[in-house]
Amino acid sequence: MNRALAIEFSRVTESAALAAYTWLGRGNKNAADEAAVKAMRYMLNLIHMDGEIVIGEGEIDEAPMLYIGEKVGSGNGELVSIAVDPIDGTRMTAMGQSNAISVLAAGGKRTFLKAPDMYMEKICVGPRGAGAIDITKSLTENIKNVATKMDRKVEEINLVMLDRERHYGLMQEARDLGARIMLISDGDVNPAMECCIEGSGVHMVVGTGGAPEG
Ligand code: FBP
Repeated sequence: MNRALAIEFSRVTESAALAAYTWLGRGNKNAADEAAVKAMRYMLNLIHMDGEIVIGEGEIDEAPMLYIGEKVGSGNGELVSIAVDPIDGTRMTAMGQSNAISVLAAGGKRTFLKAPDMYMEKICVGPRGAGAIDITKSLTENIKNVATKMDRKVEEINLVMLDRERHYGLMQEARDLGARIMLISDGDVNPAMECCIEGSGVHMVVGTGGAPEG
């Protein structure tokens, strides 16, 4: 994909984040989401491209959204498939907490799984763990395989999980093995990105969360 588009896309998420910021700590997650969506749509439509939203969100909680199939951009130029989450962490934004982010991923035609707006089981590692995970295997096997691939002990593997009751079984399994778990209240895109950054201290993200974020 054209590298110049990447710069344009960073302006899209920047505008969405700034628009959402006006709603920080005001207890209204839908208003924050709507502000981010509007800013995103406006900025996307300024870009010279033939863009299509292939992953959006909002159907579960009836939040405002950029619709799947919505055409964005000038309509001319490169064909681009776009996945968006205008705010990952709407609740955190409404509560005045940190770590919500505005997310956009882009690629050529048919580069994304058409993720429906529902839950998805996820397992994520960065480049150093690539090839060592298999979602059909147990968490124990996955942690051991990632540890081997990363040349670490299992005690040196840091997992991130959403702090949800549905994850109690996985938490117990990881702790029994000796891995460390960092629990987060919301927003599983951020730690997935951190897996890719050496020195972030995050090696794996596991659990069930939103499919669009996945
Ligand atoms: P939104 O802010 O887009 O609503 O998503 C926040 C989030 O924490 C996601 O990062 C995560 O995948 C999903 O919600 C988890 O869903 P739930 O809060 O229902 O467990």
